[in-house]
Amino acid sequence: MSSLKILAIPGSLRRGSFNRLLARAAAELAPAGVTVEIADLRDLPVYDEDVNAAGPPPAVLDLKRRIAEADAVFIATPEYNHGVPGVLKNAIDWTSRRPNQPWKGKPVALAGASDGGWGTVRAQLALRPTLACLDARVVENPEVHVSHAQDKIDAEGRLTDEKTRELLRRLLEVLVSRVPEKRPA
Ligand code: FNR
Repeated sequence: MSSLKILAIPGSLRRGSFNRLLARAAAELAPAGVTVEIADLRDLPVYDEDVNAAGPPPAVLDLKRRIAEADAVFIATPEYNHGVPGVLKNAIDWTSRRPNQPWKGKPVALAGASDGGWGTVRAQLALRPTLACLDARVVENPEVHVSHAQDKIDAEGRLTDEKTRELLRRLLEVLVSRVPEKRPA
């Protein structure tokens, strides 16, 4: 298969975010020949339909373009109050608006890291119906729930837990296998 591109979207703005580090680990563990770019949601304003109607801001258009151009998307979500953090939901809401809704048919893999014991199980479950309603093709298995992330990431920000690394590697393999073959031009 020719070179593939995954866009990784961490759903946190925090410096030192575990989920940003998970996205970096995805870049390290992706199959050979696959590049992983990491998005930053910092410049997205809060969704406002009036702003959208007047013309989406450049940061929104840029994110939509990057999702559209990616062969697949990897989302690393935190969990806030048993749900999807507003930063990430806001990004999905902005990019869901027509024209050029980029999620339709897009292979998507979910993962998430938290400092608690549930490893974003609930946030990931909440994301699935949202992505399904956009016709994204979300990988079902393996599920990657990084609980107690502070014990699995070292001081240099490297994911050190071998079981988690193996799961992430497998998830990315499955994600790449869901990308339709590119036809020669
Ligand atoms: C949290 N956190 C959290 N963790 C969890 O496992 N379940 C939860 O429901 C919540 N709720 C929650 C609400 C709010 C407002 C904050 C700020 C935090 C803790 C959260 O998992 C932890 O802060 C992670 O480190 C956030 O991800 P990043 O920023 O490290 O990627």
